[in-house]
Amino acid sequence: MTAYPITDHTFDVVVVGAGGSGLRAALAASQSGLRTACITKVFPTRSHTVAAQGGIAASLGNMGPDNWQWHMYDTVKGADWLGDQDAIEYLVRHAPTAVYELEHFGMPFSRTEEGKIYQRPFGGMMQNFGDGPPAQRTCAAADRTGHAMLHTLYGQSLRYDTTFFVEYFALDLIMRDGACVGVMALCMEDGTIHRFRSRQTIMATGGYGRAYFSATSAHTCTGDGNAMVLRAGLPLQDMEFVQFHPTGIYGAGCLITEGARGEGGYLTNSAGERFMERYAPSAKDLASRDVVSRASTMEIREGRGVGKNKDHIHLHLEHLDPKVLHERLPGISESAKIFAGVDVTKEPIPILPTVHYNMGGIPTNYHGEALAGDKRDPEKTVPGLMAVGEAACVSVHGANRLGSNSLIDLVVFGRAAGLRCAEVIKGSGPQAEFTATAGEDALARLDRFRNAKGSTPTAGLRLKMQRAMQEDAAVFRTGETLEVGKKRIADVWKGAEDISVTDRSLVWNSDLIETLEFDNLIIQAAATVEGALARKESRGAHAREDFPTRDDKNWMKHTLTWTDGAKKKVTLGYRPVHDYTMSKDIAYIKPKARVY
Ligand code: FUM
Repeated sequence: MTAYPITDHTFDVVVVGAGGSGLRAALAASQSGLRTACITKVFPTRSHTVAAQGGIAASLGNMGPDNWQWHMYDTVKGADWLGDQDAIEYLVRHAPTAVYELEHFGMPFSRTEEGKIYQRPFGGMMQNFGDGPPAQRTCAAADRTGHAMLHTLYGQSLRYDTTFFVEYFALDLIMRDGACVGVMALCMEDGTIHRFRSRQTIMATGGYGRAYFSATSAHTCTGDGNAMVLRAGLPLQDMEFVQFHPTGIYGAGCLITEGARGEGGYLTNSAGERFMERYAPSAKDLASRDVVSRASTMEIREGRGVGKNKDHIHLHLEHLDPKVLHERLPGISESAKIFAGVDVTKEPIPILPTVHYNMGGIPTNYHGEALAGDKRDPEKTVPGLMAVGEAACVSVHGANRLGSNSLIDLVVFGRAAGLRCAEVIKGSGPQAEFTATAGEDALARLDRFRNAKGSTPTAGLRLKMQRAMQEDAAVFRTGETLEVGKKRIADVWKGAEDISVTDRSLVWNSDLIETLEFDNLIIQAAATVEGALARKESRGAHAREDFPTRDDKNWMKHTLTWTDGAKKKVTLGYRPVHDYTMSKDIAYIKPKARVY
C-alpha cells in the first residue's frame, strides 16, 4: 500500500457531483433515510448547472395547448430515433410533477400575468406531434434558470442529512468482483486522501466539453466520472454525439440562450438574409440545434459569414421590445456587452456554433443503474454503480438533445436514482467490506503523475487535444477528418507518457489536478473520435459528409466504447436501441424522415 494516510468513510449512497442531478439524487436518497454523502469538485452552487439559461421543459400547457405525448414525440424526433423510448416516456411523464416540485421548493420562476409559470418556445418543441405551431413548453426563470434551480436544490438539500465533501476531487471507483463498492477522493483543501465505502455510488459528474477548444462548458467540465468508468473497464455509450449550440458568442464561446430565439430573435448571414427559412421552412430559427448549427456552418463555408473574415453569423434581438430584453433576457444582454461589446438593443450579436453538450456518457436504464455492456445481456447492470445527468446516457437525448430537455433530465432522473437506491438497499445484505488493497490503483495513478518528470507540459498536450477535437470532430465530419483526428489524439495520448508535472501539490489549481483532468479528457476524446469514425451514417449531431443520410438498417444502435489505458486502445461494441415504450399508454414512435 502507498504511503498516503487514508481517511475512511462509510455511507449507503455516495453521489459524486453536486450539480442539478447530483443534488436531486442526494436529496431523494437522504429523504429515504439513507446515509448519503455528496462529493463535489467545486462548491455546489458553482456546479455547471448554474450556467444553464433558457429553461426546463415540461408540458404544463400554461401558455397554449400541450401534453406529454407531444413532448415525447418531439424528444424522439429530436434524438433522431437513437433515444430509448421507454426512458423518454419516463422523462416526459414525470416532467410536469418535477417542475411543480421545484416551484414548491421555492424556485423563482418567471410568471405570466395570471401568476402561472412562464413558458417560452424552444427549438424542436412543437404542438400536434411535430406539425406545429411551436409549443411554449420551456419553463424559465428569465435567462438564469439553471442558477435559480441549483440554488433552490442546494437550499433543499440542506434540510436533510446529506454530508457534503466540498472541493474533493474523485479519483477512481473502487470495484470488487464486478461491483462498485466505493470511490477514492482527494481533498483539495488540505491534500488528504479519502476512501468512501458505499452501497450505491452515483456518478453525477457532468460532461466533458473541455475536450474541445471552444465550449460553453465550464473549465471544470472534464467528464471525471466518465473517465473513472472507463478505467474500471466499463463502457461509455454514444460518445460520437457531441452537441454544438448554434449561438455561442464568437471568440469567447459563452452561451447565448436559445431562449433568445424563443423570444423572437433570428439569425442572418452577410446578405442580411434570414437563412433558416431555407433550411427549416416550418420551424425556421427554432429548428433543433443540430439543424441550426449545420445551417450556420454551411452559410459560413459558402462565403456568407459575417465580419471581416466572414467566419461567423449574426443573432438579432434589436427589434425586440427593450422591456422583453430586460425582463426575459437580462443575463445574455449583459454577456453580449461584456464578451462581444454589443448593445443588444441596437446591434446584432456575433455568434458561432460552439460545443455545448455530450449526448454520450455512462449507459444506464431509466432508474439510473449503470449498464455493464454485456453482449449477451444488454440490460445487465453493474451492482452498486449508477449515473445521472450529463454524465449518463439514459438515453433520452439519443443523437441530439433538444434545448431545455437537459434541466428536466437532471431532476427527473436524479430523483429516480435516489429512489432506486432506497429500493435496492432495503433488501440487500450487509455492506461489502473493502479488501486490503481497495483504492490502491487510484493512488498508484496519483503517484505516477506526482512523479512524472517528462518534458511535455500538460497544458501543451491539452491544447493539442482540444485543437484536434475542434478541427477534426466538428459539426461536419468525414472519414478523412476523423482519421486525422484519431491520429492526432493517439499522438497526444502517447505523448502523455512523457508528461511533465511541475506543481505536484495535491491542492486546487495545481498542475497535478489539471493533469488528472487532462488524463480524464484524453480517453474520452479517443472514444469520441473512434466512435465517430466507425459510425458510417449521419444522425442528429453526427453529420458525416461522406455518409449524409441516416441508415436505420445498419446504425440504429448505441455505440459502446471501452478504452485500455495501458495499450492506448479503444474497443467498440454496440447495443440495441429500445424500440418499446414504458407503458401501454403510448405506442413506439416509428422512425421517419426528420424535417423541421
Ligand atoms: O440555450 C439554452 O438556454 C440552453 C439550454 C439547454 O442546453 O438546455
